[in-house]
Amino acid sequence: MTENSTKLRSQQWFDNPENPGMTALYIERYLNFGITREELQSGKPIIGIAQTGSDLSPCNRHHIELAKRTRDGIIAAGGICFEFPVHPIQETGRRPTAALDRNLAYLGLVEVLHGYPLDGVVLTIGCDKTTPALLMAAATVDIPAIALSVGPMLNGWHKGKRAGSGTVIWDARQELATGAIDYPEFMDIAAASAPSVGYCNTMGTASTMNSLAEALGMQLPGGATIPAPYRERGQISYETGKRIVAMVNEDLKPSDIMTRESFENAIVVNSAIGGSTNAPIHLIAVAAHLGIDLTNADWQKHGHSTPLLCNVQPAGEYLGEDFHRAGGIPGVFAELIGAGALPHPNARCVTGTSMGEAYAGASVSNADVIYPYAAPLKPAAGFVELTGNLFDSAIMKTSVISEHFRSRYLSNPDDMNAFEGRAIVFDGPEDYHARLDDPSLNIDDSCILVMRGAGPIGHPGGAEVVNMQPPTELIRQGISELPCIGDGRQSGTSGSPSILNASPEAAAMGGLALVITGDIIRVDLNKGSADILISDEELAKRRADLEAAGGYPYPAHQTPWQEIQRGMIEQFDKGMVLKPAVKYQK
Ligand code: FES
Ligand code: MG
Repeated sequence: MTENSTKLRSQQWFDNPENPGMTALYIERYLNFGITREELQSGKPIIGIAQTGSDLSPCNRHHIELAKRTRDGIIAAGGICFEFPVHPIQETGRRPTAALDRNLAYLGLVEVLHGYPLDGVVLTIGCDKTTPALLMAAATVDIPAIALSVGPMLNGWHKGKRAGSGTVIWDARQELATGAIDYPEFMDIAAASAPSVGYCNTMGTASTMNSLAEALGMQLPGGATIPAPYRERGQISYETGKRIVAMVNEDLKPSDIMTRESFENAIVVNSAIGGSTNAPIHLIAVAAHLGIDLTNADWQKHGHSTPLLCNVQPAGEYLGEDFHRAGGIPGVFAELIGAGALPHPNARCVTGTSMGEAYAGASVSNADVIYPYAAPLKPAAGFVELTGNLFDSAIMKTSVISEHFRSRYLSNPDDMNAFEGRAIVFDGPEDYHARLDDPSLNIDDSCILVMRGAGPIGHPGGAEVVNMQPPTELIRQGISELPCIGDGRQSGTSGSPSILNASPEAAAMGGLALVITGDIIRVDLNKGSADILISDEELAKRRADLEAAGGYPYPAHQTPWQEIQRGMIEQFDKGMVLKPAVKYQK
């Protein structure tokens, strides 16, 4: 036995002389894959690989290969490796939405980490919700954990231009709508954007969350951005396997690394990379499972003034492979730390050092991809929080507001200011698709599109549907975007300047439930307000009438989990966590 073996929790299963009967039962079946009793009782750390890759989860599928190198690293460092499956979450394959599975995968992984003989775990992250699900579970169980990204796909190309995941589809569907391209070309463009194993190559929710897992200190430095097919991806898998064994020996736990300080660092990094509007939901959730009260106000306070450094789609022009070659997250840290703009360089990292030490010596090799902090791509690239009679809290990613949008909608184009518009209200994505081109709605460029019934309860898990496009007729006239407000989410690969994640949602009787098509909505980005311009009395009457009618309706549950989750889910501004789960902190 090694010196520290009595401290390892796995030995409660495999070497407990006080209960030989249970020990024998725990051991005998594990022997079946050829591991010996001596190994199981050696006091070597037993490391789980929480495997998110499968045929159903193509974004993370390459983890099946990478796990071989991770296992080699675990063994080389003196550990034993048990790989096990995590409930699949595939962003683009799961109906009605992959967001339904974030909390389900979380619950499943909590049970595995709690109930099996594991001393530490490698979290195989990648596709959008896999990253928060695994970090949330590691936060709850709080055994040593290290994240390993599967890496982005290589750059996609179509006709000599970069074709980025999701983003190219949002653009191409407008060309399809106007007849500029036909359906076969549309499909060719989509396929061209996905040229290899890995997750979305744009700065969508996947790249964002993998980058933030590194910014939180939960991945080895540089681990977020190595493209999936690169040889360095296999090499860092090996290093990750080695490092988790050392972390068990050091008893370095998620709660030691993911502190309030590290979340504030991650918020700053999110602005600098032009990260997804899904990030607040997921980081608030991870923080909640650590007992840290993170809010949308924290996102504005710590992140809004940070400039955009990364020239990566959808906010910029490059893709994940370029971002990695330019320096990746270490390059971003180099700029932030160099400018004194990283709030907490002393926050800890899985390396066991401070972030400042872990990223000392990092640099940017291509300033057209990662701009200097002193001369950024855009100033103040974080989110603003909005509040008013429409909702208590919603966010807007102001860095993607186009010049066209500013000049058309904001009263002073040099400043982010106020705009008003006539509300066109849709009850869920089906209603939007059915009625958008209905001429009787008279949609013109003075309208604000409102999407409701798309929140965690209304559309279980919340739908990525707030980034609505204008009617075809307006697109033909050259109007490619209208202001959008909604209680759903928006794909991180979309560049739409929407007001989203509105909480509480209509299905929870938030103010969005009370809007009527034709109402005037006023948004003031300076004041952080969004209101229907009607009297409080009228608003109260509408609320009373709707409550008397049984409240804002939502579709029937389709599965047991939809019903269970709807009964206990928080709103987006509270991370969409399961209410009873957040009290379970180690
Ligand atoms: Fe899986 Fe984008 S769809 S990462
Ligand atoms: Mg998405």
